[in-house]
Amino acid sequence: MPTPIITLENLSFGYDKTLTLEGVNVTISEGEFIGIFGPNGGGKTTLLKLILGMLSPVKGKVHVFGSTSQEIGYVPQVARFDKDFPISVFDVVRMGCLAQLKWWGGYPKKVKTQVLQALEAVGLSDLAHQSFGTLSGGQAQRVLIARAIVNHPKLLILDEPTASVDPHAEQQIFQLLQKLNETLTIVMVTHDLQTIIDKAQRLLCVHKQVTTLKAKEVCEHFALGLYHTPLTTKDHFKL
Ligand SMILES: Nc1ncnc2c1ncn2[C@@H]1O[C@H](COP(=O)(O)OP(=O)(O)O)[C@@H](O)[C@H]1O
Ligand SMILES: [Mg+2]
Repeated sequence: MPTPIITLENLSFGYDKTLTLEGVNVTISEGEFIGIFGPNGGGKTTLLKLILGMLSPVKGKVHVFGSTSQEIGYVPQVARFDKDFPISVFDVVRMGCLAQLKWWGGYPKKVKTQVLQALEAVGLSDLAHQSFGTLSGGQAQRVLIARAIVNHPKLLILDEPTASVDPHAEQQIFQLLQKLNETLTIVMVTHDLQTIIDKAQRLLCVHKQVTTLKAKEVCEHFALGLYHTPLTTKDHFKL
């Protein structure tokens, strides 16, 4: 039996009286690579924030087993940085270690090693001392992934990490995530269904409700971005 790492139990959430998510039941197991897709405004980011404990459900429960918030790495949607703000790649990754800051404002010695290892894992060791603002979109995303994994989390959550990068950088990011998936559970929001279908074991379609699909069950309509209901009848899938 696989060990569950996230369980969402009859989960509902709304920012106001209308529900953004309703009656969500999902279990994600250790070691899985889960792709999340669905229409804009469907509740994908909201679902991630509930898993991260940044929002509290109106109804139902979120269990994240064996992981305190420090054991979850998070790459938020479109992280915009001021290009002129003078911060090095090394410093951006080190921001993932803020919890280890000492009372006197310094980091323990091991943090430097952790940062260099994380940069190596994303293939950017050479850029440690470069200014973050000079990086390409794809490099910047990989630095943000390094920041998310610097504390050796068990679970990595990413919100559209490939949304603003070119196709080559996107392939590099997917390859990197597949490699990281050897030791980490990955939950990733993406619009690129063509690519995620080959990589993820399961997909969650988030559209107020959440439907779980095996990657091969996703029909061409989804790949074209034409979401439709019902999602549950087999006739709608090209198997
Ligand atoms: N902070 C917020 N306050 C109020 N409404 C929000 C907030 N964030 C998102 N929403 C609304 O909740 C719905 C789901 O948003 P979101 O989870 O960001 O969707 P997705 O990531 O799938 O595009 C949308 O209708 C959005 O406008
Ligand atoms: Mg979103």
